[in-house]
Amino acid sequence: MKHGLPQKFNEIYHKEAQHAYFSPGRVNLIGEHIDYNGGLVMPCAITFGTYLLINPNQDNVFRFRSLNFDENPEIAIQDSYTKNGDGWFNFPLGVIDHFAKDGHKITGLDMLFFGDIPIGAGLSSSASIEVVMAYALNDLFNAGYSKLDLVKIAKSVENNFIGMNCGIMDQFAVAFGEKDKAIVLNCDTLKYDIVPSNLGNYVLAIINTNKSRKLVESKYNERVEECQTALKALNKELNIHYLCDIDTATFNQHKNLIIDEVVRKRAQHVVEENDRVKLAADALAANNLAEFGKLMYASHDSLRDLYEVSGKELDAVVEYAKTNPHVAGARMTGAGFGGCAIALVKEYQFDDFSKELADYYTDKIGYAPSVYQSLIGNGVGSLLVTSEA
Ligand code: GLA
Repeated sequence: MKHGLPQKFNEIYHKEAQHAYFSPGRVNLIGEHIDYNGGLVMPCAITFGTYLLINPNQDNVFRFRSLNFDENPEIAIQDSYTKNGDGWFNFPLGVIDHFAKDGHKITGLDMLFFGDIPIGAGLSSSASIEVVMAYALNDLFNAGYSKLDLVKIAKSVENNFIGMNCGIMDQFAVAFGEKDKAIVLNCDTLKYDIVPSNLGNYVLAIINTNKSRKLVESKYNERVEECQTALKALNKELNIHYLCDIDTATFNQHKNLIIDEVVRKRAQHVVEENDRVKLAADALAANNLAEFGKLMYASHDSLRDLYEVSGKELDAVVEYAKTNPHVAGARMTGAGFGGCAIALVKEYQFDDFSKELADYYTDKIGYAPSVYQSLIGNGVGSLLVTSEA
């Protein structure tokens, strides 16, 4: 196993780890801020993610350790748990709380977490840790949940325990992702297709703006509320469950029902982005990366101007990408407000792209981005605990 984790577990707990699990992070190729509006999204799992080594103990205590954070609380078994400050361990604790409230008998646990996803960078480090914990508890205590149940549990932890009113995309992607495949997920019906990611001679670059993200949760929840306001206004004449139940033409016929201009802009993004995902799915299936790239740029522009979740750092990445003829398209990915962008770059040009982008960005923003070539990997699963590093 990577990163010498079994040895680390042994050093901390003076025992061999018995069980190991991994859940990836994700990027979303297109379809941003529409999962909670019943839209179509197109995420992929990436090969970075969260590892969990775990042993049940007989001490009635949950021992949380992470190689990424200094806080390592021990929490005694109770009937239910509450969020404790902003500590990283709240994500797995929320999952334990959910299982406990569902009536599952969970014993004490010795846990070691390690994530090689840049944390808080919009690559779903939180969905990754929630899903790996849910998968592990389901496996260790034979709770009998399906993978989709685990996705729903993880989302509910994020919504109700952590307080972020996110949609289902991230948890779904990190659970159901497949190597070299993208997921086309309908977030209303939860029907999905696993499609070849088919990037031809392009590779997927992930660019972390390295901007420290603040207040993402409150700004995110504000967008969710704005969409609900728009939906209510449209339903004076329509009868829809989600903004993504209508296409752009129908929206244009009824958009004057939305009085507040900002709210109208938010809804316009949502409806148009949903239409873009359909076109993008067709373009990917036809191996038309040039068209796919154009849709990525259009998605970014809309997130910048209509949804207003970009920022000068993400915009700088996309601005540079537009000047490079070897890039088919680029956009912010995830919630925004900093975090990561993605770009489709000709494979043989990747090194030059990284260097030129880093120079452009550093010059403009004042510090360097991190650029990775991303591999599309599998969803959550168990690992063999072996000692080799
Ligand atoms: C975050 C949320 C997702 C989704 C994206 C934006 O990653 O967790 O549910 O809304 O933002 O597309």
